[in-house]
Amino acid sequence: MTQPLLQIKDLQVKFKTEDGMVTAVNNLNFSLNQGETLGIVGESGSGKSQTAFAIMGLLAKNGQTSGSVQFNGKEILGLPEKALNQIRAEQIAMIFQDPMTSLNPYLRVGEQLAEVLMLHKGMSKTDAWAESLKMLDAVKIPEAAKRIKMYPHEFSGGMRQRVMIAMALLCRPKLLIADEPTTALDVTVQAQIMALLNDLKRDFNTTIIMITHDLGVVAGICDRVLVMYAGRTMAYGPTDEIFYHPTHPYTMGLLGAVPRLDAPDGEELATIKGNPPNLLRLPTGCPFQERCDKAMDICRQEPPELKFLPKERQRACHWEHPYHSNV
Ligand SMILES: Nc1ncnc2c1ncn2[C@@H]1O[C@H](COP(=O)(O)OP(=O)(O)O)[C@@H](O)[C@H]1O
Ligand code: SF4
Ligand SMILES: [Mg+2]
Repeated sequence: MTQPLLQIKDLQVKFKTEDGMVTAVNNLNFSLNQGETLGIVGESGSGKSQTAFAIMGLLAKNGQTSGSVQFNGKEILGLPEKALNQIRAEQIAMIFQDPMTSLNPYLRVGEQLAEVLMLHKGMSKTDAWAESLKMLDAVKIPEAAKRIKMYPHEFSGGMRQRVMIAMALLCRPKLLIADEPTTALDVTVQAQIMALLNDLKRDFNTTIIMITHDLGVVAGICDRVLVMYAGRTMAYGPTDEIFYHPTHPYTMGLLGAVPRLDAPDGEELATIKGNPPNLLRLPTGCPFQERCDKAMDICRQEPPELKFLPKERQRACHWEHPYHSNV
């Protein structure tokens, strides 16, 4: 059997706060093979970004991790800063929701891209510019030869996000983590960026973790989906199973909340009522109980155990789906 590129076991992220310990990520388990795409979905605050930061070794100072993150067969959780810096530069790259947080407004885009290659690949300035131009072409920036000399503020939001993707892919990372890369963009541009990521996945065989609060976004691009709530795995499995045969009330709720582009004007979109719980005051039992239309007495008494099922699926819920016999 081939070794997975990324293997996460019992990953936990805790933060020390003035009001007590917050467990932002609670015992995650998943693995990802080279070339696969994993979608991590869940509402705001469910622990998606902290999962990514833990993998990258980029947690805030008051955070601590436990468990295991194996990358290419090597443990990387808790590596010293220097070793992590090298992995981050050359093997694992991340793109964020707001590209302006990662682009320097005072430098031309070409200089920023070329600098990465000169620093990490030891390229000459001429070669680095040529390679950067190729990458801007690869992310389908029109008139790349002209735009490479422009400053970030001269790009539209969607084009800036393409620049960020180009920058992330420059060193040909094995793993790309995209944290809500299209949330700030309008729907048409979102679709274009997703299509672009799908093309790049095919062309570069990059392994991708796609973080989003929208299950609809993952359907076309992800092989597997992890559904998180209050830091925990609610459901995990192949996209087809999770998307077309959802059995977890939270996944079913999220799917119901996907905005329909074909919805007639004025039609109310289904959303899950209420808000995610405060992590400092989690209820006994299932964290989703107050919002779940399937909640039973046992849900208020005992947290559902995370069950590892056939076909690498995982599910944490006391309720049995009538058609899918709890799988
Ligand atoms: N530096 C921090 N200190 C304390 N708690 C934090 C810190 N960073 C994140 N958290 C907690 O972790 C939770 C999960 O955050 P995050 O992973 O950013 O959620 P998501 O990306 O799913 O919206 C937050 O709701 C917050 O309670
Ligand atoms: S365990 Fe109970 S409250 Fe939680 S999702 Fe399942 S049915 Fe709903
Ligand atoms: Mg986030």
